[in-house]
Amino acid sequence: MRNDMKCILLTKEEIAKRVCELGNQIAEEYKNEDAPLMICILKGSIVFFADLIREIDLPLKIEFMTASSYGSATVSSGRVKVVSELDNKIVGKNVILVEDIIDSGRTIAYIKNDMLTKGVKSLKVCALLDKPDRRVSDVHADYVGFIIPDEFVVGYGLDFDQQYRNFPDIGVLKPEMYAN
Ligand code: IMP
Ligand code: MG
Repeated sequence: MRNDMKCILLTKEEIAKRVCELGNQIAEEYKNEDAPLMICILKGSIVFFADLIREIDLPLKIEFMTASSYGSATVSSGRVKVVSELDNKIVGKNVILVEDIIDSGRTIAYIKNDMLTKGVKSLKVCALLDKPDRRVSDVHADYVGFIIPDEFVVGYGLDFDQQYRNFPDIGVLKPEMYAN
């Protein structure tokens, strides 16, 4: 293990197994529907998204949007910035938002509420990680990879100050790594 990690929470093998299960579940649930439009919420979801879409055996389409509420701290700022030009691409579509982690829930609540006003046919959320202990918005994911404790995690797309996104496992950073 790298010496900047306190522990590894999920190995890449555990993640791959669960992502495969999620992909199969989504494929099964949409097999008689219009194939979903999968939207990757950048940047944190990029690794999960790339793996997940390849486990869904449906003629789906993909789009990207940017959202952030963190800045460079490890505690959610409460402000959500959304950058998206998807408005006319989501009308009448079965949309699945793909998020790396739901923490306070503010980001996904904001995006969901916004999209629901824009004429989507259906809207679901798929999150790799869920930290329910820290929820402040009343929001849930329809598909969840893993429920995790209230720890700041990095790897598999998740960052601390834009680093560690390429770490293949999901780990808990030693507190001294973000102390200053
Ligand atoms: P929320 O709006 O508080 O739910 O925050 C969601 C966003 O915060 C996620 O998309 C992540 O980008 C980021 N985030 C939340 N918890 C963590 C964490 O433990 N590690 C890295 N990023 C996190
Ligand atoms: Mg994110």
